[in-house]
Amino acid sequence: METPLRSRIAGTGSYAPARVLTNRELEALVDTSDDWIVSRTGIRERRIAADDEATSDLAYAAALKALESAEVDARDVDLIVVGTVTPDMPWPSAAAVLQGRLRNTKAFAFDVSAACAGSLYALAVADRFVAAAKADHALVVGADTLSRVVDWKDRNTCVLFGDGAGAMLLRPTRDPLRGISSIHLHTDGSLWPILHQAGGGSRAPISQKLIDERGHYLKMNGREVYRVAVRSLEESCREALAANALAPGDVAHVISHQANERILNATLERLGIPASKCWMNLERYGNTSAASLPTTLDEASRAGWFSPGDPILMMAIGGGMAWGAAIVRW
Ligand code: ACO
Repeated sequence: METPLRSRIAGTGSYAPARVLTNRELEALVDTSDDWIVSRTGIRERRIAADDEATSDLAYAAALKALESAEVDARDVDLIVVGTVTPDMPWPSAAAVLQGRLRNTKAFAFDVSAACAGSLYALAVADRFVAAAKADHALVVGADTLSRVVDWKDRNTCVLFGDGAGAMLLRPTRDPLRGISSIHLHTDGSLWPILHQAGGGSRAPISQKLIDERGHYLKMNGREVYRVAVRSLEESCREALAANALAPGDVAHVISHQANERILNATLERLGIPASKCWMNLERYGNTSAASLPTTLDEASRAGWFSPGDPILMMAIGGGMAWGAAIVRW
């Protein structure tokens, strides 16, 4: 019997804006300290998009690198999925704008909205098109410019986030030892109030009143997010491991959305996976939302971390609340 078609990550790329914003600089903006931020989150600095940089610009830079590493011509891409909650404009999608920048006319392109889990959701969607032989060169991007929706007067949130983009190029494979084995996604829509951006949509359109009440900014209940994140990530990682008959000890590497060092360490400890197996870059970028997981994957890949066939555990969680985990064989 022929091995079923799967998708394989054939190339990765990432981009971080040049401007570095340190914890020390934040001390001048809000009542906080480098010590507080480092001890509660692990973050030391983050990148902030230039005034003339929008999400699709970050996505474009990351996409070019992924295409180059996969040795694929931008014109051959036949599917573009972008995970983002900060597209250049409410519509059209960042994916459509990106397609135009790439001078590609072959792909169909759309965004997926799952906040910090956006790139894992986008990966799951693209994976299914490739596995169904409906796409041959699928470009998956996670890109966000949260600096544009963060309240720079709210110390509870503004210290956590940064801007960036990461990209993955999927190709089909029939190699049973490589490729995306399974992705497990979950949403609990009753929890949206703990992490959201209420203003600017159809319920609360942009108005002077909304702006005066700071309703156009991201809002978060940090303690609740922390509690839900650790529990949900552990559960979905166990689900992904069980679906692939793997024990935590079989995992070669962990590639995770970089929400917060404490969330990651607590989740890994519950799973019994050493923290040394998890690539961390939170210290340098903060939480870059959908960009985080593919940026982390790109850095680890370029550092030579992976060998062919290595089982990699991926996990992400974000506003929705939306989360999931995956097993990918490199
Ligand atoms: N600097 C100084 N003090 C601060 C800051 C800050 N930047 N932010 C909050 N505080 C204060 C609070 O106001 C509070 O003061 P109070 O006791 O006088 O009211 C005090 O610190 C303690 O607040 P807590 O919320 O208990 O602090 P906690 O230890 O829970 O840490 C944190 C806060 C880091 C946000 C934590 O709750 C957390 O990690 N939550 C998860 C949030 C997260 O990672 N979000 C990312 C987006 S979601 C995602 O990617 C999944």
